[in-house]
Amino acid sequence: MIHHAIAIDGPGGAGKSTIAKELAKQLSFIYIDTGAMYRTIGLFAARNRVSGKNVQGVISLLPYITLEIRFIDGAQHMFLNGEDVSDKIRTEEASIYASDVSAIPAVRTFLLEQQRAFAKSSNVIMDGRDIGTVVLPDADLKIFLTASSEARARRRFLEQKAKGLDVTYEEVLEALKLRDRQDSSREAAPLKAADDAVIVDTTEWDLETSIAMVRRLVKERLDV
Ligand code: DC
Repeated sequence: MIHHAIAIDGPGGAGKSTIAKELAKQLSFIYIDTGAMYRTIGLFAARNRVSGKNVQGVISLLPYITLEIRFIDGAQHMFLNGEDVSDKIRTEEASIYASDVSAIPAVRTFLLEQQRAFAKSSNVIMDGRDIGTVVLPDADLKIFLTASSEARARRRFLEQKAKGLDVTYEEVLEALKLRDRQDSSREAAPLKAADDAVIVDTTEWDLETSIAMVRRLVKERLDV
């Protein structure tokens, strides 16, 4: 059986996961958040007091990591060696660790087969930085979702405030720009739009409009 795959790439805070999640629900596809996998490896490094920039150190941790994605009430949960870390990987610290470890080629190889396996067994919407360029180069539809850094920082800031986290807009903006720089300038599978990706800029749109626009692209391309 042939499965459909939709790849959504783009910088942090562009709305990838919110939009992908909603679409997956509408289409009955499985949603895979690959950033969560990098975050989980980052969390493991942080807990073991290994800097995310310590390449050999991070590589030496990989054999001790078992990552598992389980779907609970339709939502993706990340399990690290049997522990549900879904909430713990959402901090600013985990974000920067994730960005650091994701620049290590061995870490990317470690995750690649697992990511591809999902697309072999189900219809998927997968989001990340290199889904259209590396993980699923044959995806039926590739979307590069972006927005100005200020718009992205504002959304992320409001999200974190709502969760009760103690952050300022400036901190969020700075952290986001740092991650953009790191993710785009690294050698291994940098953040960039695939040649055949549709670029979608959500700076001026609210969430509903963004979802509707992406939904339309899916309908045009996949007829679902
Ligand atoms: O999407 P996110 O913010 O949860 O991703 C966290 C980090 O993981 C991001 O800064 C870069 C890295 N990442 C990656 O390199 N490749 C992916 N496919 C997904 C995420």
